[in-house]
Amino acid sequence: MIGRMQRADDDPRDDRPATRFVSAGRRFDRRIDTVNLPVVRASSVTLATLAQADDEGAAGIAGERHRTTYATTGTPTTFALMDALAQIEGGGHACRAALMPSGLAAISIPLLAFCKPGDHVLMTDSVYGPARAFATTMLARYGVRTEFYDPSIGADIDALIRPETRIVYLESPGSYTFEVQDVPAICRAARARGVLTMIDNAWGSPVFARPFDWGVDVSLLPLTKYWSGHADLLMGAAVVREEHWPTLWQAVRQTGTCVGGDDAWLVLRGLRTVDVRMRRHEASGLAVARWLEVRPEVARVLHPALPSHPQHALWRRDFSGASGLFAFELKGATPSQLAALCENRRHFGIAYSWGGFESLIMPAKIGALRTVAPWRGGPLVRIHCGLDDPQDLIDDLAAGLHAMAAA
Ligand SMILES: Cc1ncc(COP(=O)(O)O)c(C=O)c1O
Repeated sequence: MIGRMQRADDDPRDDRPATRFVSAGRRFDRRIDTVNLPVVRASSVTLATLAQADDEGAAGIAGERHRTTYATTGTPTTFALMDALAQIEGGGHACRAALMPSGLAAISIPLLAFCKPGDHVLMTDSVYGPARAFATTMLARYGVRTEFYDPSIGADIDALIRPETRIVYLESPGSYTFEVQDVPAICRAARARGVLTMIDNAWGSPVFARPFDWGVDVSLLPLTKYWSGHADLLMGAAVVREEHWPTLWQAVRQTGTCVGGDDAWLVLRGLRTVDVRMRRHEASGLAVARWLEVRPEVARVLHPALPSHPQHALWRRDFSGASGLFAFELKGATPSQLAALCENRRHFGIAYSWGGFESLIMPAKIGALRTVAPWRGGPLVRIHCGLDDPQDLIDDLAAGLHAMAAA
């Protein structure tokens, strides 16, 4: 639709000088097609008629595709990303996607959307720390009770489901400890009892995991990680089966949850290379993991693609590859030895995020983050293998382990 400011007979030369500042240069030739879409930065969406405002407004409230009267509901750029995410993450399933300003918002907003006071949520004990904090503080304040379960529970989740259970929340592999869950078995049990399943699909990326084939209802995506892949933006998305779209969309729209055009465009750009990037992250991660596995300082490496991983068979069954994120357990290390290992590395930076082109290292403090299956091992260090040459990463870790022994 053409809004008033784009009327074909508008000529800025007819305007007074001050008006020209706001009218000149706003008409462009829409017939010129480029490989990439333009970035649309917007707040106002101009409408041609009042009837169109009514019609478009009602369609936007109902969550119909590409219908908007204001940029909080969407713009051509954010709609393009929403469509791409629904197609990619949904695979052959009919899905819709909503954008959120961070991966954490893509966890908290859907939990708010699907829960009401009195509901019960079953959440894996291996969950991302801030998601646990949200559930135990804010959700609790709204009268939603969260119970944590052992990530290895599988079909036995059935025994924990109560009449008031609304959601089973999964994350596979788990944050920091990398337990692979039997997602299909949990989804089957939940579905048989009419309970919604929600998964944080951060690690598997769009390339190696297919949550809707596993049976989940809602997939939560930190687009900050591999989807965008360049450590230059924060964004998240919730992808839902079509039947759950009205509930999600209402919460997204009513909370004013939205993202800007520049960041949406950058995620679209990241998507074009994600398959190639993931295969390099996988190869480098495995090379480094195998090297660490035989080091005398290392008790074990927590990497689902290693045959030594306790749920390696589940990983082989459900995933088509591995990302570059894993952890290793040291036989022992004092805080100053951990600092010697992690600080002053040439290629590994110290940072909390992951999923970009850069390599990162961070000791994992999970003591307070497990209540059902406490961590009983030694010091845990999480690393993200970026797109560097894996031999440089190995040399860097060798220097770190050497510095650790000397500290
Ligand atoms: C497993 C997992 N889920 C979700 C998030 C949240 O993503 P964001 O950093 O975009 O808020 C993170 C961030 O580290 C994460 O590790």
